Amino acid sequence: MDVLIVSGMEKRAVIELRNVYKAFDGVPVLEGLNLTVLEGETLVIIGRSGTGKSVTLKHIVGLLTPDHGKVLVLGRDLSTLGLKELLSLRLRIGYLFQGGALLNWLTIAENVALPLREHRPELSEPEIRDIVDSKLRIVDMLHARDKLPEEVSGGMKKRAGLARAIVLDPSIILYDEPTSGLDPVMANAINELVVHTKEVTGATQVVVTHDMQSAYCIADRIAMLYEGRIIEVGSPEQIKESTNPIVRQFVRGETKGPITDGESKPALSEINVREGGSR
Ligand SMILES: Nc1ncnc2c1ncn2[C@@H]1O[C@H](COP(=O)(O)OP(=O)(O)OP(=O)(O)O)[C@@H](O)[C@H]1O
Ligand SMILES: [Mg+2]
Repeated sequence: MDVLIVSGMEKRAVIELRNVYKAFDGVPVLEGLNLTVLEGETLVIIGRSGTGKSVTLKHIVGLLTPDHGKVLVLGRDLSTLGLKELLSLRLRIGYLFQGGALLNWLTIAENVALPLREHRPELSEPEIRDIVDSKLRIVDMLHARDKLPEEVSGGMKKRAGLARAIVLDPSIILYDEPTSGLDPVMANAINELVVHTKEVTGATQVVVTHDMQSAYCIADRIAMLYEGRIIEVGSPEQIKESTNPIVRQFVRGETKGPITDGESKPALSEINVREGGSR
């Protein structure tokens, strides 16, 4: 695993995407994407809708494979793994899907128990119940353990999805738009939960969002995805004060600028493309 020096401290690279290209039906989505996620950090990926944020997360769990380039997770090159090895690596990764992906016919507690039933056959029913309830307690959902997903709010579904994502004690947690569609109070509660989960579990986290308030609140570093590449990585303060016109327009939510102004859009080569973060 690569070791990077950040703020004078050595940090291991837990996830690395190296020069990743991915196209669907000839339409390029990722075009030479480089990204390093360090042990124990929360890295937030920002970018407009349809730029490939979810596609990037799916590469990290091997649900998608790159056309070119490499994906390394916990020191393993995913392209060298057989299915069995990939599945066992995935057990160390929690994934909060964009849509929540709870099964409607199972209670909240049964949804959270699913990964345990599938991957920990040695556990007894009381043991499963104890683990499920401990995770539901972390996300403040214990009171709703026996409800069906349709009986709880959108924010509660997200929290239940998070409990399921962490039920196998993963060392990596991926969150796809954890606050989208939530009111500001619930969005803040989820942000606090993301910070709290990192503190409690020590996991390395990658969060995809286009909500800048969330990004500033939870990120150790923020990476901006644009036209298939990470065009800048930095601390929340660095991103807030970025001089890159594309990053500036995005984080300020301005309607006029290089992102939307096709005529005057500068080529990526003309702007200061910084990759790899605080190397
Ligand atoms: N399995 C797939 N097959 C074909 N095209 C796909 C597939 N997955 C993603 N795409 C395309 O790749 C592009 C990027 O999609 P992606 O879902 O990663 O966007 P996103 O940045 O997550 O957007 P949003 O913020 O709306 O969730 C889109 O044009 C999408 O249609
Ligand atoms: Mg998405």
